[in-house]
Amino acid sequence: MKTRIAAGLISAGLLLSAAPALAQARIEVHADAPTHTIAPEIYGQFLEHVGTQPYGGIWVGEDSEIPNTDGIRNDVFDALKALEVPVVRWPGGCFADLYHWQDGIGPEAERPLRVNMVWGGTPETNAFGTHEFFDFAERLGAKTYLNVNLGTGTAKEAADWLEYITAETGDRAAEREENGRATPWKVDYLSIGNETWGCGGHFTAETYADLYSQYASFAKTAGEQPVRIISGAHDGNPEYADTILQHPYIDDLAEGISLHVYTLPTGDWGKKGPATGFPEAEWASTMKRTLRMADVIADQRAIFEEHELPADEFGLYVDEWGMWVDQDEDTNPPALYQQGSIRDAVVAGLNLNIFHENADVVRMTNIAQMVNVLQAMILTDGPDMVLTPTYHVFEMYKPFMGAEALDLDIQSPDYTYADVTVPAISVSAALTEEGKIVLAVVNASARDNHLVDASAFGASTAIGRILQGKTMDAHNTFEDPNRVHPVPYRTEGSGGDLILSVPPRSVLVVTLE
Ligand code: AHR
Repeated sequence: MKTRIAAGLISAGLLLSAAPALAQARIEVHADAPTHTIAPEIYGQFLEHVGTQPYGGIWVGEDSEIPNTDGIRNDVFDALKALEVPVVRWPGGCFADLYHWQDGIGPEAERPLRVNMVWGGTPETNAFGTHEFFDFAERLGAKTYLNVNLGTGTAKEAADWLEYITAETGDRAAEREENGRATPWKVDYLSIGNETWGCGGHFTAETYADLYSQYASFAKTAGEQPVRIISGAHDGNPEYADTILQHPYIDDLAEGISLHVYTLPTGDWGKKGPATGFPEAEWASTMKRTLRMADVIADQRAIFEEHELPADEFGLYVDEWGMWVDQDEDTNPPALYQQGSIRDAVVAGLNLNIFHENADVVRMTNIAQMVNVLQAMILTDGPDMVLTPTYHVFEMYKPFMGAEALDLDIQSPDYTYADVTVPAISVSAALTEEGKIVLAVVNASARDNHLVDASAFGASTAIGRILQGKTMDAHNTFEDPNRVHPVPYRTEGSGGDLILSVPPRSVLVVTLE
């Protein structure tokens, strides 16, 4: 059905294009190529205990003056609900390897006060624990992705946690009921350890593979088993995944492996570059560094092929990605709190387009992170809340969730600054369940408007919204929360041509008719 509609809209032929002289970018559609479903989980989120996430940003407690439902602030919840968040990863990140789940159950007043030794020594009240997370995910309608503690935990602690969450009967189920929840929850995804090559324990790949296999052998849930995800490589060490996968038992104990890829404007962890007020050189290097995502995924794909892991049985889970910049030295922000600008929005669009293109192997991604941390959707300050430009991209891209990604070739003009040259235009197109073609166009140029020829789809109208920044670091503030927001966009074709005018520093999402 979907293919028939696609073929009808795209018209027959393997490679279709028609470029009037004016257009600088051209889209070609491989109408006969197979499509791949864009897993909704590609739009997943990450909730780690860092800075003011969850405390203050999501969880304020029932007695707070900030309007809340069972302790979760209503403004943030409603904004996340509007995104249709498909899955949330919790409790870390590096924090996961110091988290002991039994600290976070039972009456709140009796929970121990700990110190978040991973992220700035802030108080960890344990008020947001297992019940709060699973209830939050349930209300959001999101799947759950649990990251269990390998670094300072035990296989027994992990197994007990899964029993507590999912058992129908027995003492742990009774304890859960005593703590307020009779019905078991579901753990949809499970990761054992995090960044095991780094903060998660500095294990060699061989040692981690043994430990993973031990934990996974006992990580059972009542009912449907979760998708088990090995903690894998980052962009600088692809071979870590390769070595893990050489373990004799591991592929029988896992359904996928993770990958972490952050975008640092300068590429230097010691001086990453500021969130705002940066020079064009850092806009350009940010775009270049973001586009590496395609190569990093290609490396992982090659490793899967080498290990004969078929894409329909073993997936890639990019469970941390996004912008990471320097914190403002003049203030004392909570850990990993950073402003998000139109640059972040463009980075989000470029990454999402790459994930769509690799949707046959990329099963889930989790942007880092959801509220008040790194490339957040939402920033809060006491009772105030502001949506970042990245939030708007996730909201505009919603039609791509579950749609069929079409196979495209893009001919793009270059964007060049000093010694950096990247394609200015990135495009993704997909066929939605309603049989519509949705098109996302990202203009990564800091300066140039581009005309994009979308005639190959055979449509006459493009209707949607565009997000653009007046400057390279245009962003929303608590005082001016709507400086960067999507505005309506409509283009009519003529004589069979459909040309989209796409301004610099922008993300456009349209439906073709
Ligand atoms: O997202 C912040 C941190 O980045 C995570 O805790 C860790 O896994 C990664 O290094």
